[in-house]
Amino acid sequence: MTKALEVKNLKKYYVQKKVIKNDGQKSSKQTIKAVDGVSFSLEDGEILGIIGESGCGKSTLGRLLVTLEKPTSGQVFLNGEAASKLLMKDRLKYRRSSQIIFQNPFDTFDPRHTIRKILMSVLKLHKIGKNADEQLEICIKTLNDAGLHPAEDYLDRFPFELSGGQLQRISIMRSMLLNPTFLVADEPISMLDVSIRADIISMLQKLTKEHHTALVFISHDIATTRYISDRVAVMYLGKIVEIGKTDDILHHPSHPYTQALISNCASLDPLEKREVIKLEGEPPTPINTGPGCYFAPRCQHACERCFKEYPQYRTKKNGVQVACHLVKEGDE
Ligand SMILES: Nc1ncnc2c1ncn2[C@@H]1O[C@H](COP(=O)(O)OP(=O)(O)O)[C@@H](O)[C@H]1O
Ligand code: SF4
Ligand SMILES: [Mg+2]
Repeated sequence: MTKALEVKNLKKYYVQKKVIKNDGQKSSKQTIKAVDGVSFSLEDGEILGIIGESGCGKSTLGRLLVTLEKPTSGQVFLNGEAASKLLMKDRLKYRRSSQIIFQNPFDTFDPRHTIRKILMSVLKLHKIGKNADEQLEICIKTLNDAGLHPAEDYLDRFPFELSGGQLQRISIMRSMLLNPTFLVADEPISMLDVSIRADIISMLQKLTKEHHTALVFISHDIATTRYISDRVAVMYLGKIVEIGKTDDILHHPSHPYTQALISNCASLDPLEKREVIKLEGEPPTPINTGPGCYFAPRCQHACERCFKEYPQYRTKKNGVQVACHLVKEGDE
């Protein structure tokens, strides 16, 4: 079956230019492997949560998926067609099919434009609605559906006159007006007031399921990710180290990094809490990574092999894929 979204061995390397150091010497050129060989696929309407510490490459992956950035190598496919080809054929159509919601809704909208102008320009650009009257009706319905009543009161306001939650709802509704094949939500609630976060998550879940839109939900909050996601991928230094069904990953994590992440998550149900596994040190930056497992310097179980050889994926009996030498193919 054709997948809504498929990602094959996607890489994004940033090359840092040489700089003059305090001692007058030039620093050496460094390569930051922000995304380092990521592969996964998503069915229509499926929700994949991406979790991992800050700096592990989640946002870079999100930008690559919607082609806001060009990959160093690898491909993104939409309904079986390569994004690079689709973009050449019909750029506007591709933009409509792949949407992204950012962390800060105030950065999403041009502060000089009213909500009316923001919504109308999307409808005009993508030729949604027969004429201006119908487009205005769609704007009003969109605002009402986003819980902004009466919608007419909000049309001529500027983004700064709305709350973060109201703007994020408009941002989600605006994306969904285009009926995208997939949507990336990059930490969409982390800057919002705690009291409205659950509402925004429910709205995202409901709309993407109704429209059969695949959703890549990026977050460092495991509890929220568990609530919304069908499957979860755990990232460490640009790579997915474990991917599978949400319950399997969160109840029976196999990768030592996933185990540590989950054990450190205070917001999970305390009944489920295991012994806290200390994650020593900060995650290293993805520069000059060695040949071995990237997690080895912080892993309690690391052995000689771990420092020499990057582990291949093994598929457990429940379908979860894990990149760790400790896990064997077909493990329970
Ligand atoms: N434009 C860029 N130029 C250089 N390095 C970058 C750029 N964007 C991200 N990085 C680096 O790539 C890594 C991954 O960053 P990011 O994708 O923002 O991670 P996350 O969203 O998980 O916090 C970090 O080390 C970050 O400093
Ligand atoms: S491969 Fe080795 S270092 Fe990496 S997570 Fe597994 S046990 Fe730890
Ligand atoms: Mg980020």
